[in-house]
Amino acid sequence: MKKGRILTGDRPTGPLHLGHYVGTLANRVRLQDEYDVFLLVADYHALTRTAEKEHVIATRQFSRELVLDYLSVGIDPDKTTIYVQSDVPTVAELHLIFSMLTTVPRLERVPSLKEVMDAEHIENPSYGLLGYPVLQAADILHVKANLVPVGKDQESHVEVTRELARRFNYLYGEVFPEPQALIGEVPTLMGTDGRPKMSKSLGNAILLSDDAATVEQKVRGMYTDPSRIRADIPANPEGNPVFQYHDAFNPDKAQVEDLKDRYRQGKVGDVEVKKKLAQALNAFLAPVRERRAFYAARPHAVDEILAAGVAKVGPISQQTVDEAREAMGLGRR
Ligand code: TRP
Repeated sequence: MKKGRILTGDRPTGPLHLGHYVGTLANRVRLQDEYDVFLLVADYHALTRTAEKEHVIATRQFSRELVLDYLSVGIDPDKTTIYVQSDVPTVAELHLIFSMLTTVPRLERVPSLKEVMDAEHIENPSYGLLGYPVLQAADILHVKANLVPVGKDQESHVEVTRELARRFNYLYGEVFPEPQALIGEVPTLMGTDGRPKMSKSLGNAILLSDDAATVEQKVRGMYTDPSRIRADIPANPEGNPVFQYHDAFNPDKAQVEDLKDRYRQGKVGDVEVKKKLAQALNAFLAPVRERRAFYAARPHAVDEILAAGVAKVGPISQQTVDEAREAMGLGRR
């Protein structure tokens, strides 16, 4: 007996990195035995900033790579239903219904909207960008998910989802659960440059698809304590990304403690700390690379997995929308 349903996903905008892994992918892999898990490739969400043709084409390509990233970290397509958002038209229908149950000022207050507008220099958000969290609510609620494993930046969207579920249930009767967000153990992994967040667009990310030599090179160039100009200067491992990654990815806790101790005493050089980190990361990534190669060598595998995904989620989605329409008094079709 499963504990409930999970729905989560990502916008297909580029390769995933270690920050995604600790923030949410690890949870998704861990929970696929306990829950019914739905994983969506949010391609419509990827078009909310710009919907230019080239961007649409790039989004299609990134969608396939995103699925490879999922499979490579150990998402098992026999346990987790993976599908592309735009393949399921009933999600768009639920989005339309939900769009009547919230207000423009409420959506304007969602913190990520302002962040995206600032970061991407958008002066006037499209209707679609404003409605981003409403579409996300439709994603979550069309399968009646109870749990949503996401990065910390998505909490405010899950809050909108909860409000929409409450509002709908209040107006028309109990149809939707109020889902909970589940944030990963390391909510934000620092960038290799020491900035607070790893991000592909900042160029400070180690990708799940990086090969061993690239990982070594990126680790060698990582930011460490700039005041420590010689190895015999005692320094603090706290707030140092090299040690944050050791904590997150090095399973040899005794080695990590030993490195931290010697670092505090000024008895270890950055070179050694980084070398051990590169080894730990490459050991972590070895099976990830193997799984990626396995699927990449089977060109139809991704298509088949996505086709099976729609076949599974489609009827569930249809049933939820039928129920919602009926509760509202629109009647079934
Ligand atoms: N907004 C999410 C992100 O950028 C992606 C997403 C779309 C999502 N729909 C979702 C996440 C539903 C969880 C549930 O990361």
